[in-house]
Amino acid sequence: MADSLLITGASQLLTLRGSGPRRGTSLSKLGLIEDGAVLVREGLIVAVGTRAEVEKISEAHAAEKLDLGGRVVLPGFVDSHTHLVHAASRAEEYELKIAGASYEEIARKGGGILNSVKKLRAATGEALKKRALAALKQFAAYGTTTVEAKSGYGLDVASELKILRLHKELAAEQPLEIVSTFLGAHVVPAEFRGKSGGAERYIKLIEENMLPHVSENRLAEFCDVFCDRGAFTVEQSKRVLQAGRQWGLEPRLHAEQLSRTGATRLAILMRAASCDHLEQVNKSDIQALGKSETVATLLPGCDFHLGLKQYAPARALIEAGAIVALATDYNPGTSPTLSMPMILSLACTQLRMTPAETIAAATINGAYALRREKTVGSLEVGKQADFAVFEVADYREIPYYFGVNHCWMTVKRGRVIHAAEQLPI
Ligand code: NIG
Ligand code: FE
Repeated sequence: MADSLLITGASQLLTLRGSGPRRGTSLSKLGLIEDGAVLVREGLIVAVGTRAEVEKISEAHAAEKLDLGGRVVLPGFVDSHTHLVHAASRAEEYELKIAGASYEEIARKGGGILNSVKKLRAATGEALKKRALAALKQFAAYGTTTVEAKSGYGLDVASELKILRLHKELAAEQPLEIVSTFLGAHVVPAEFRGKSGGAERYIKLIEENMLPHVSENRLAEFCDVFCDRGAFTVEQSKRVLQAGRQWGLEPRLHAEQLSRTGATRLAILMRAASCDHLEQVNKSDIQALGKSETVATLLPGCDFHLGLKQYAPARALIEAGAIVALATDYNPGTSPTLSMPMILSLACTQLRMTPAETIAAATINGAYALRREKTVGSLEVGKQADFAVFEVADYREIPYYFGVNHCWMTVKRGRVIHAAEQLPI
């Protein structure tokens, strides 16, 4: 078998090449090559260019060949925010929401995240694994090659560790790359509620028991907190993130989703990798994000699923110079989707981002949000050969078609991990 693979037949090859995260007008620069080709060796890109340029390289002659038949090729999506491991849907709450109950009302009555916690604690590791594996297959089928995964539906030592160990197993047993995040501070669990100092005692459990275990067993790279009304305050979030950092976990944050708390300021102050949601940010938050290295990750799937009108102010963020990324936030309560193309469609119509901007936000800027910019997120020499091939004539058709999957093939580290049998149009 040849060691190298020559990929040709990309009518539009979106390389996303360039240096630094995409901000402002650079967010729409896709580095498009017509009739593009890529040469891959041992899962890494060794050459990218037009077909004529790449075919000239002597290594290309003996390489195995893969012709993509004139389709559109882009870096595999980097989905930088998911709650991958959960036990079941919350379809019963979906009906309540449609009938008019708000997300917070449902949560106050013991539904919401606590509902998923109950279900997860009762689930076997085997059942959780089966569900997560099926989800990962679907992620790949929609063109995603790297997935961040958060714990946060366990909320006791054994159950949080159960989720994080599963991240590790899943990373080893299937092709998608999994970036693990500890979200022990998702909400205060039921057994700590209704008692004075309950939240503080739970935070102590995180600091003294959960974090040491997570760190010693290398179960997560990042520490996240849901900093919002009904979850954790800015002060509490800071404590958890500082403790996480002492244990070697880099901060990221759920910020300004339901209310404006000042979480964005905290994320910036702590040099967090990203702060996510941002529906309720104010003007000064937007300006501050514009000057910071913290990625502003937008999750329009949540507002769509919850039927909310107030999406994050993407245009203002882009104009201020923020590093805008897009992710699914795959979870059973606010965003039950695995489809990055659907998120791109929502970002175009609801966030008023252009198709080109959505693609950069879902690839290279997602890689920055996960501190993986040196290995994934663009098709450049030295990076992993991770790409998605779409059965469309023009990249703009990726968000243009919505709720339809045109992903024809997905490749991770030079290996085909998904190939469509039949496509809709
Ligand atoms: O990102 N906001 C907090 N966490 C999730 C929702 C979790 C849930 O409702 O199960 C989110 O929207
Ligand atoms: Fe989330």
